[in-house]
Amino acid sequence: MAKENSKENDWRYRIFDSLSYPTLILDLDKNILDVNSSFLEKFGSKKGILGKKCHEHFFQSSVPCSSMQCPFQKVISEKKGRSILMRVIQDDQERWEDRVFSPILDDKGEVAYLRESIRDVTQIKTLEKELKGVQNLFEKVVQSSASGIVAADMKGNALLMNRAAEELFGYSFREFIHKKTVRDFYPPGVAKEIMRKLRSDEYGGKGKLTNIKVEIINSRNEKISGEIAAAIIYQGDKEVATMGIYTDLTEKIAVEKKLEETQRRLMQSEKMASIGQLAAGVAHEINNPLTGILFYATMAMESRDKDDPIREDLNCIIEDVHRCKGIVKDLLVYSRQSSPAKDLIDLNSVVVKSLSLIHDQKLFGNIKINKIMPDEEMMIHADRQQLNQVIINLVMNAGDAMEGNGTLTLQTYCNREAGKAFLEVSDSGCGISKEHLPHIFDPFFTTKELGKGTGLGLSTVYGIIQEIGGDISVKKTDSTGTTFLIEFPLHNKGIMNDV
Ligand SMILES: Nc1ncnc2c1ncn2[C@@H]1O[C@H](COP(=O)(O)OP(=O)(O)OP(=O)(O)O)[C@@H](O)[C@H]1O
Ligand SMILES: [Mg+2]
Repeated sequence: MAKENSKENDWRYRIFDSLSYPTLILDLDKNILDVNSSFLEKFGSKKGILGKKCHEHFFQSSVPCSSMQCPFQKVISEKKGRSILMRVIQDDQERWEDRVFSPILDDKGEVAYLRESIRDVTQIKTLEKELKGVQNLFEKVVQSSASGIVAADMKGNALLMNRAAEELFGYSFREFIHKKTVRDFYPPGVAKEIMRKLRSDEYGGKGKLTNIKVEIINSRNEKISGEIAAAIIYQGDKEVATMGIYTDLTEKIAVEKKLEETQRRLMQSEKMASIGQLAAGVAHEINNPLTGILFYATMAMESRDKDDPIREDLNCIIEDVHRCKGIVKDLLVYSRQSSPAKDLIDLNSVVVKSLSLIHDQKLFGNIKINKIMPDEEMMIHADRQQLNQVIINLVMNAGDAMEGNGTLTLQTYCNREAGKAFLEVSDSGCGISKEHLPHIFDPFFTTKELGKGTGLGLSTVYGIIQEIGGDISVKKTDSTGTTFLIEFPLHNKGIMNDV
């Protein structure tokens, strides 16, 4: 029996000795009763260890560790194993140990001894630290990106949303995860279409979507022009998440539009300059013979009796010469060859005066005229006659577009900070077609029937406005009507201190 017992003891001992972690057996007073081979490999010979107290051996201290530092007492009272992670400095090197304390019970089920195993987890701790560092770096990279980055599970619930995305979509990540899914970023059907493209291999490869333009809807329900690059994240073959990188294109589009507008204006003024030179040359050449024709026709008229039938023909010649002279004059204004008599004038007063001139015209009999003008002077430096001509040309065009029926609105306003006064002439007429729009300021461009329009109206207006340093553009035109916008430099930002 005794033999069997020692055999039994023997194999139990062998198990203890073969444990791969350094392990020791302690009595309830923390005396070290035995240690296994792995322990000896790591901590030296049994001689100096056995009989010592645990804290004496490990910490060279006669004082036991506190229950905060060591779970020894808890293991005894709870009869349950516990572990503690310990930072050890040895030879100036940091090590991490996971110490596991397990109770060994006697026949009555009371704790007789404690087993302490020491597992070196320094490598795991170092890797954990490195991983945390990489995670922190990754977090910083994602957060500092100027593009909005969002990752979501396959149901559309956001898993990650960086600051740029929070700004772009107008939600904080916290509020977003509770209320919305990434489908709410787009108008109906768009999210589905993005997923379709992602799953196809035609848009950058299966699972990828290279930049495409999308309309984004933010928390205020505003539509934003954006661009998205997206990807599906796979685990094996299984789709587990999606991620999207969003760029707000609002500013880019605005800059592009401005650039396009500047190019258009540049082209227009270049075209105007070359046509203007030509027009000026022709006008000068024609002016002299016209003066001659007028002189001789008038002389011939005067030498004829009152009832001479030839007088009627001569009168036709004189009238047509006057008409031609009018055109030449317009051409000279357009090409800025005539010198205007500039004065300081109030824009509102010119508008009122010009409107009074057209008031009795048959064309405006059935047209409702609206004047929207603030009760303040807007002083501009211009030739009053020419300004009249500008307004009348625009108003006559509006009248023609409405074919005598509709609403004409003249509105003035100013921005004193910017030093600008504005005049808008709106009609409820037929609008200007897309093909005609680039040509309306060209001399002799007209859509009116022969004899009805010379096509010099808007080009003369353009010349006059350029001459005073202003600008003219079509603010709106469609089948409901047209609005011309003129911008004038406001004199001394509108303060009349030198008048
Ligand atoms: N308010 C408007 N609504 C619609 N079309 C317009 C308007 N203003 C101008 N247009 C178009 O622009 C063209 C050029 O206008 P512009 O005033 O230069 O010449 P016109 O009116 O045809 O002739 P005129 O020399 O007698 O003024 C017009 O023929 C017309 O097609
Ligand atoms: Mg006209």
